[in-house]
Amino acid sequence: QTGLTALDYGFVNTAATKSRITYIDGDQGILRYRGYPIDQLASNSTYLEVAWLLIHGELPTADELADFDERVRRHTLLHEDLKHFFSALPHTAHPMSVLSSALSALSTYYENGLDPKDPEHVEMTTIRLLAKLPVIAAYAHKKSQGQAFLYPDNNLSFVDNFLRLNFGNMAEDYEVNPVLSKALERLLILHEDHEQNASTSTVRLVGSTGANLYASISAGINALSGPLHGGANEAVLEMLGQIQESGEGVRRFVERVKNKEDGVKLMGFGHRVYKNYDPRARIVKESANAVLDSLGISDPLLDVAQELEQIALEDDYFKERRLYPNVDFYTGVIYKAMGFPTRMFTVLFAIGRLPGWIAHWREMSLDPQTKIGRPQQLYIGEGERQYPQR
Ligand code: SDX
Repeated sequence: QTGLTALDYGFVNTAATKSRITYIDGDQGILRYRGYPIDQLASNSTYLEVAWLLIHGELPTADELADFDERVRRHTLLHEDLKHFFSALPHTAHPMSVLSSALSALSTYYENGLDPKDPEHVEMTTIRLLAKLPVIAAYAHKKSQGQAFLYPDNNLSFVDNFLRLNFGNMAEDYEVNPVLSKALERLLILHEDHEQNASTSTVRLVGSTGANLYASISAGINALSGPLHGGANEAVLEMLGQIQESGEGVRRFVERVKNKEDGVKLMGFGHRVYKNYDPRARIVKESANAVLDSLGISDPLLDVAQELEQIALEDDYFKERRLYPNVDFYTGVIYKAMGFPTRMFTVLFAIGRLPGWIAHWREMSLDPQTKIGRPQQLYIGEGERQYPQR
């Protein structure tokens, strides 16, 4: 309680990025947003309340949250000309490619509001990103299905508006499903931040050059798309499906992973920081059964996932390497039960992570001590040598 930190004692590599936003203890499996344990936020809060917490450092008052929610609702419409952007893309376009390129395109409509050092520009861009990224994501989904885009309905909550844009259509009224809403709200909260992961570090590095918030978030989306990072939730479903369709059985698959045949990995397992059970994975696993039961859905892939987890957790190969399920292991089963196509899973991760990216970008950009990022290198190449005279 001295207020001193490890940094003050000199135990920490001072080149490390300093942040007040999220704390992770990988050995203990602890995750806290601005000091609040993730399980308490996931059970009691909302996506926008947690977004405010991450960005401002404190939970909002009721009035602050109501005003924040209202400002986000009032900016959900995209400029009509952006529809031409979507019509230029093939219906087979991967939604993550649509998302990152649409964000760069979106910034061109706000050329007078991009100054990273202007607090009003930063606040307005924050609202526009939170409001419009879900709409762009839903458009990418509708585009892939050859269905008409819907306009947002600002009478709905953030999550219900997003669900309607994805699953509503022009021919009938959309009926809100409280089970889906609560499950998606919880999943989005679990993804909102995670300290210096690859995509957040990308957002901070790009932002440190003075690039605007749209450009920085677009770069973060591209980093997240990799199968070793956010793309893992899509890869897990593909892995579970291959195990089921091949008929090889879970045990044979685990042996292939241990023998590193064809570089196969147990997707959704392992983590750069957690060398224990990812606390988010535990929460997702608990809600997976509840969501499927309440939707009256039984998915054999959930059984495959649970068998895979049980075998892996008992196997020395995984125990020695401290490999446990991470946040991506069970999320896909729930997204699939909600009706999202597999290629939308990482898009859902991006919508979840958006507040964390924005919070880190603002923490970096508004800190006068911030210098342009330049990761250190240890040169291990050739010494000086002469160009041959010919
Ligand atoms: C996310 O950083 C974050 O916070 C990310 C994230 C966030 O919220 O932003 O938490 C989200 O990206 C979660 C991770 C999702 N990715 C996956 O599920 C892909 C599968 N996982 C692996 O690729 C891997 O575990 C990583 C990339 C996640 C972590 O890699 P590490 O910590 O660098 O581990 P490593 O590659 O050094 O592996 C150590 C050993 C190796 O074996 P040996 O060489 O010692 O024999 O463990 C093995 C690896 O082969 N290993 C795995 C494995 N992960 C590591 N073997 C099989 N399956 C795996 N998944």
